[in-house]
Order: sequence, then structure tokens, then C-alpha cells
Amino acid sequence: MTTNVERYQRIARFYDLLDAPFERKRYRALRPLLFEGLSGRLLDAGIGTGRNCEFYPPEAEVSGIDTSTAMLELARERCPTLAEGGRLYQMDVTALQFPAASFDNAVSSFLFCVLPDDQQVPALRELGRVVKPGGLIRLLEYVRPRGRLRRAMTYIWQPWIAWAYGASFDRNTEQYIPTAGLELVESQFVFDDLMKMLTVRVVAHPAT
Ligand SMILES: C[S@@+](CC[C@H](N)C(=O)[O-])C[C@H]1O[C@@H](n2cnc3c(N)ncnc32)[C@H](O)[C@@H]1O
Repeated sequence: MTTNVERYQRIARFYDLLDAPFERKRYRALRPLLFEGLSGRLLDAGIGTGRNCEFYPPEAEVSGIDTSTAMLELARERCPTLAEGGRLYQMDVTALQFPAASFDNAVSSFLFCVLPDDQQVPALRELGRVVKPGGLIRLLEYVRPRGRLRRAMTYIWQPWIAWAYGASFDRNTEQYIPTAGLELVESQFVFDDLMKMLTVRVVAHPAT
């Protein structure tokens, strides 16, 4: 079975080209919302080719992680500040090599829709561990829409996005938030009923 690492190693060089129409029409307008009210030390989990970089708050110190070296190579070009600062890491979001409370806040865009169901809670727990208590985690993700036409379209797209990106519209990340010991602050549709922004608060670390 193909793993997500293999998928993104394979697709990295085509990724920006394939995503270009969506980036232009949908994502560019939404990415700045990920960072509203966030500052300090930020983690961008599943940084990909670095599409969020131009929207990082200027005063924030951002680190990026991704499992794919090929995606990170492209992020290195797009995010010179992170590259020069040595803050781009090959890491799995389910096993982060940062001490607890290393970050004030974390974001991820289109990472949880590619994480298999059994990795959703471990990934949320890890983000909750590396973000300090009281910090926010903001997620931008696709969901399965309810509207009939858009819903039908997502079933047509499903085989391609599963093969190419390991993605699904049915990850239901929101439902795992309490199990991961986190608090859902806000869940908001940001593009029709197809894309959601989740704002999650780290309540307290298990050991504190
Ligand atoms: C759909 S892309 C999104 C990239 C970027 N965040 C964006 O908004 O364009 C998903 C990214 O998550 C990475 N990824 C997948 N599984 C991961 C994991 N377990 N830990 C860290 N990154 C992962 C992939 O390599 C890929 O770069």
C-alpha cells in the first residue's frame, strides 16, 4: 500500500501546478485567516511547499514540519527565513521531536484531511503537547459538503485525491478534538460548506 510519504515524494514537483487554480480561487483568500490573532512561536504542521509563508505574521517566529523531504525542499525556496533559521524539519506530526510547550500556537492547512482516521487523535494530541496551555491550534480542512451538487462533485473527485494526496472529505477531525483533550473554540465554514476553519484551544497538558 502506498504511504503518504511516498505519495508526496511522487507528487511534490507537480504539486504547485496541480494546486494552482485552487490556490488562486480559494486558498489565497483563506490562508491569512489561519493566522488571525496568532503571534509568538508558531508551528506550521505539514508545511508542504510553503504556501502559508507569505501570510505568516511578521513578528512571529515560525517553524515548519513535514514528512516529505521533496515537499520540504520546495518550502526551503519559498520560505527563506525558515530555511536560513534552520526551522524546517522532517518530522511526523504524530511524533513531534519538540519538547512540551515549545510553541505559543500552531496551524495546519490541509494536513488533517490527508491523515488516516487512526492518526487524527495522535496528531491532535501531539499538537496539543507542543503548544503551551492556553495556546491555539488553527486547522483549515476540507469536509464532505451537505449540498447535493457539491456533495456529488466530491464523490467524483474522491478517487483522484485519494490516489494523489491520500486525502478524503470524510476525516471528521472536529469530532476527535475532545478525545485528544483539546477544546473546540470555533468551527466555521469558510468556503461554502466545503471548507472549514477550526480553532482549538490547548486546555492543559496531562502532566500539569
Ligand atoms: C495537502 S498537503 C498541504 C500542504 C500545505 N499545508 C498547504 O496548505 O498547501 C499535505 C502535506 O502534509 C504532509 N504530511 C502528510 N502526512 C504527514 C504527517 N504525518 N506529518 C507531517 N506532515 C505530513 C504532506 O507531505 C504534505 O506536504
